[in-house]
Amino acid sequence: MPDRYAVVGNPIAHSKSPLIQATFARQTGQDITYERLLAPLNAFVPTVQRFAADGGRGLNVTLPFKREAFALARTLSERARVAGAVNTLRRDADGWYGDNTDGVGLTRDLNDNLGVRVAGRDVLILGAGGAARGIVAPLLAQRPRTLTIANRTVETAVSLATHFVSCGEVRAASAAALEGRTFDVVIHATSADTTMGEMSVWPGTLFGPGACAYDLTYGDEPTAFLRFARQHGASLVADGFGMLVEQAAESFHVWRGVRPDTRPVLALLRPA
Ligand code: ATR
Repeated sequence: MPDRYAVVGNPIAHSKSPLIQATFARQTGQDITYERLLAPLNAFVPTVQRFAADGGRGLNVTLPFKREAFALARTLSERARVAGAVNTLRRDADGWYGDNTDGVGLTRDLNDNLGVRVAGRDVLILGAGGAARGIVAPLLAQRPRTLTIANRTVETAVSLATHFVSCGEVRAASAAALEGRTFDVVIHATSADTTMGEMSVWPGTLFGPGACAYDLTYGDEPTAFLRFARQHGASLVADGFGMLVEQAAESFHVWRGVRPDTRPVLALLRPA
């Protein structure tokens, strides 16, 4: 019997994780199955417990359950503890082990796939919710010149920056305080992504010479943020598909002890 894995979220039908993980399994010769698991919004824990009772060995956890997965895990990696969120669960003999591979997924995509340097640069994160939380410490570990978190509700940015104070200096800013400032790397981590109108909270002056605009989400069409970034002079724009593949590879390693080669998978699966 192959070992059973899944991605759990709500909604989940759009997830490309099953395709990515099946490609990794073929590449590495690992005998696993990987499915989509829709958890009702009020029943994350029972859904995960049923999966384990049915022999499930590991899960990727996506929106909106990463904080609940953190609370559920019996043991945690250091990076999951620091993030306060879990995107990878592994069923060990003594219960669930929780890890967070989102941050390393982002920094690997920036450094290895896109050739974007974070060290010594001015980096801006837009948004201060769950998606931003997972990437602050891994970005700080790359030693940017400055790291700023900006949020529509500035108080949330301040509290996120305060949470990470032991990892390095993080500044908080309101959207208005960004007016006239420029950055080298601008990372979009809000959940507003459908219309250009929603981008009007941010000044158009954010993108310095040669700036990279990165959206943590992905889709078949360029996101509203990436269109906004192009309009306002960003040199390089990238969606989060590379991060998705890189975090998936790291999760695969957590479960199976084997690290897939992401390059051919990215080349094969990246939307045109
Ligand atoms: P959660 O916090 O539940 O994990 P998230 O999707 O990770 O949710 O984060 C929501 C983020 O998107 C927040 O930073 C939120 O800003 P506020 O704190 O001001 O609500 C941001 N966000 C959502 N809709 C937005 C919009 N239309 N414009 C700007 N920011 C938006």
